[in-house]
Amino acid sequence: MSRRSISRSPSARAPKRVKIDHLTSEDFKNGIMLAPMVRSGALPTRLFALKHGASLVWGPEMVDKAMLHAERVIDPATGVVSFNGKSRAMFTTHPIEKPYLIFQLGSADPELAVQAARTVMNDVSGIDLNCGCPKPFSTHSGMGAALLTNPDLLCSILTALRAAMPPEITVTAKIRLLPSQEDTLKLVERIINTGVSALTVHCRTRTMRDKDAALVDRLKEIVDFVAGMGKGIAVIENGDCLGAEDAKRIRELTGAHSVMIARAAEANPSCFSVNPLVDLESTLCPAYLRVAKYLDNHWGSTKFCVSQFKAKHVNLDKAAQKRYRGILHSTKGYDGLEEIVGSWLGEEDFAEIVKAIEARPPRLRDGASTIMEASENSISPSPTAVLTPSETSNPEPPSSGAPLMLALDRLDLPILTGNDPLTPSPTPHRRVPVAPSI
Ligand SMILES: Cc1cc2nc3c(=O)[nH]c(=O)nc-3n(C[C@H](O)[C@H](O)[C@H](O)COP(=O)(O)O)c2cc1C
Repeated sequence: MSRRSISRSPSARAPKRVKIDHLTSEDFKNGIMLAPMVRSGALPTRLFALKHGASLVWGPEMVDKAMLHAERVIDPATGVVSFNGKSRAMFTTHPIEKPYLIFQLGSADPELAVQAARTVMNDVSGIDLNCGCPKPFSTHSGMGAALLTNPDLLCSILTALRAAMPPEITVTAKIRLLPSQEDTLKLVERIINTGVSALTVHCRTRTMRDKDAALVDRLKEIVDFVAGMGKGIAVIENGDCLGAEDAKRIRELTGAHSVMIARAAEANPSCFSVNPLVDLESTLCPAYLRVAKYLDNHWGSTKFCVSQFKAKHVNLDKAAQKRYRGILHSTKGYDGLEEIVGSWLGEEDFAEIVKAIEARPPRLRDGASTIMEASENSISPSPTAVLTPSETSNPEPPSSGAPLMLALDRLDLPILTGNDPLTPSPTPHRRVPVAPSI
């Protein structure tokens, strides 16, 4: 683990790089977020979303119990961090996404939630509690949308997480609307009082399906209500946003600080850009496949994600589209895709992603500073941006922007078997198939 020793004296030589602070409620504002998506929210998708302008990215929901005995393994060649179960990698991440990565937990137990959060907190910037999944596998054990009607449990999990996590780690929640607006506001009030940094509201009720139009008209009152509580907590709209342009419309309509996108990003991870990619078969897919192979993403996961891609065709004719689909459907692994990808130069595609992420302006402080505003206005780094103190271990990616971490000896970490991503792991590297937890 590399440690920087920065002099405390203001007259000492200027640090080479200004470090940004950890996430706060402000960083959940003015953004377009990648939603948590089991299966579809795989590491390569999150990286491409970040490359194309997603402000923050949520990982797919992981159930607390599944994480408790995970073994943390680092691929010394790429820096990919895998949380491995007995037979599979349950969650993979790369240090480059850490400053923007929110880990989503499925839980119905404060203690388990805290234990699970501790296993990953060194590799993420925030922990989000899933309070919206309506699927029986989630609700039957009291998780997901079942928490909406058990606010005592919901809030006790958030309170426990907030108390247990260091201040560098944000705690947030993602809920659905309750049938009555009055009940929704009561629940929101309790959630905000737990100390969350942001609240995402999926504007559907538990019984509504994705094909039902999201009830975005109900959000304005919720946003105003949260603003009235005076804590400055961000409210993120979720439901039916199609991309960067549409996010503006939704924010105007609802007053939400930010918008979170799921299905439109599943179909096109570049939808966060005002100029999203078209003709994905020849634009996004080759690079996506190369990066996925370079990062050793499980083929099944990669194939599933790529098969969801869908965007406008401008230059690509029907025959080329058909040919692409044919190759993808018939192949059983990365081998055999050369016609689509050309040479396997995923390392170069990955370097481009790193460059794009590193080119982001640092998170600025002092009020008006947000990722989107800063990028629009090209604000230069604030001289008051918080420096990484010397007593932090700051397990940062090979870029600025890592959240501050307490020195490792001050953390109560149960199982962290890997080391700095740039240092070869003492444990033999093991790659196992990636599969969603639920
Ligand atoms: C493939 C898929 C997987 C999802 N997995 C999760 C999940 O892990 N956690 C969660 O809170 N919501 C999950 N969702 C719900 C989305 O995050 C989002 O709330 C919902 O799709 C509405 O947003 P949209 O209209 O932009 O699609 C998932 C949705 C999809 C399509």
